[in-house]
Amino acid sequence: MNNYSCIIPIDLHVHGRTGLILESVIPYTYNNFDSAVMMGNLAEPDGPTDSLEKVITYRNEIMSHVPKNNPFKPIMTVMLTRSLTPEKLHDAATVARVLKFIPGATSTNSSGGISFFELKKSYYPVLKMAEKIGMIFSVHAELIKDSFGRDIPELEREAAAIPFMEDIVHKFPRLKIVFEHVSSRAACDFVKACPDNVAATITLHHLILSKEDVFNTNGEVDNIFNYCKPPAKKVSDREAILKVAFSGHKKFFFGSDSAPHPISAKLNNGAAGVFTAPILVEKLVEIFAKANKLDKLEKFMSINGRKFYGLPIPDQRIEFTKIEHEHANEVNGIRIFNCDFRKLQWRRIV
Ligand code: NCD
Ligand code: ZN
Ligand code: ZN
Repeated sequence: MNNYSCIIPIDLHVHGRTGLILESVIPYTYNNFDSAVMMGNLAEPDGPTDSLEKVITYRNEIMSHVPKNNPFKPIMTVMLTRSLTPEKLHDAATVARVLKFIPGATSTNSSGGISFFELKKSYYPVLKMAEKIGMIFSVHAELIKDSFGRDIPELEREAAAIPFMEDIVHKFPRLKIVFEHVSSRAACDFVKACPDNVAATITLHHLILSKEDVFNTNGEVDNIFNYCKPPAKKVSDREAILKVAFSGHKKFFFGSDSAPHPISAKLNNGAAGVFTAPILVEKLVEIFAKANKLDKLEKFMSINGRKFYGLPIPDQRIEFTKIEHEHANEVNGIRIFNCDFRKLQWRRIV
């Protein structure tokens, strides 16, 4: 088969940032997806979008870059920070659909956040409100320190967060929960075993990378451009993620976690996050086509996520043809992810 077409996809997890970065990366999202969950972990001085006012300001900034005739709709997120209350969440829910939790110091721009222990001790009333008003609870599930304050090794952090996820699933049976960017077999198995109010996003890069592409044999990062949180794990973990993505399972859907960082921030500060937005849809077609699973791609990219979020399935379709081509190396000083040397096997027809 040399042609493929599908319902326009939706990206249920993107970092667009603000200012000049937003301006240079957002076209890749609004040109390939008709909607996207725009994560609100903004750097200071904007800070995380944890109030109605901040969510509106960020939505307006995003929309100021979207051409008038483009139907793109951002799905906005309220960040669960120390200052969020059930009342503030209720107010922000007039504009935001998602309550987003990145535990403190776990990933980019999360230094002021709370831990899983604090969440369980003091912030369950916020989750109660999210459940009551039907918000999606989107979780970066990595535990960085155990109950004694000891560091948990990076590759074990996702599995270590599962008991906290279990507690939330148990206490909030009607809360819609997304286990974001699953990176391990343990997380896939957990989500599969949960009731239907629990789902997961899968990124492009976790379908491609294993820890050997990121770390040296001493466990130190030796390819910073493949480094993200949660980091890629064993080949057997990647295989488990590919298997659920290829199965069309309704609980697993695409969320790119495209996370642009200037090359200088990657090289000098070891910033976590890979920038995939420009290559996402073509590379997904390539991966599914190579595995002879193109019949499952539309579920993964366009249908499962919309159903979980309660969004309508659009009529608009996009088309691809099989032809090798090369993509650029970077966008405005941000390196584009692609481990096989900029080559793509499929091209979107526009
Ligand atoms: C993301 C970012 O850069 O904002 N980084 C990452 O490594 N995934 C944050 C996140 O999704 O955890
Ligand atoms: Zn995350
Ligand atoms: Zn993210």
